[in-house]
Amino acid sequence: MQLPETLLKSLNDQIALELSSAYAYFGMAAWFEHQALTGFATWMKLQGKEELGHAKKFYEYVIDRGGRVQLQALGQPVQEFASPLAVFEASLAHEQKVSAAICAIHEAAGNAKDYATQSFLKWFLDEQVEEEKTVNEMIGRLRLIGDSRPGLFQLDREAARRAEAEK
Ligand code: FEO
Repeated sequence: MQLPETLLKSLNDQIALELSSAYAYFGMAAWFEHQALTGFATWMKLQGKEELGHAKKFYEYVIDRGGRVQLQALGQPVQEFASPLAVFEASLAHEQKVSAAICAIHEAAGNAKDYATQSFLKWFLDEQVEEEKTVNEMIGRLRLIGDSRPGLFQLDREAARRAEAEK
């Protein structure tokens, strides 16, 4: 089963997108560290680590299908944010971009009758639902607490616990 050339290009682009996701999350983590919100920083570092895992899954898949991995340059991630809410909103926008990219590859794989790639992408489609849900929940809670500092510290502690539980 030869990997179609267009899909190979999309899969290599996806490796870059997943690595940029990791970079974006480490940028967010660094901002949280600077704000002394170490729970959110831990959450973002864990998220970044997961993205490296996603990139590796795409990398291995390209190799498994006999394709050549071609790495790309990564842009500098955003490291300045207006608020914790702005960070999570940026995270959601990023995840929505990743979801759209995975859906587009899934569709292209269907058009190319490359059912193996569709099967491989199933895990990512499920993962994106979960990731968007988790980020959306945090956005809802940050909106709920508004400017409350005690509320923010409470959420920061909870973020640390969630990250700890998923390690
Ligand atoms: Fe690998 Fe969060 O998408």
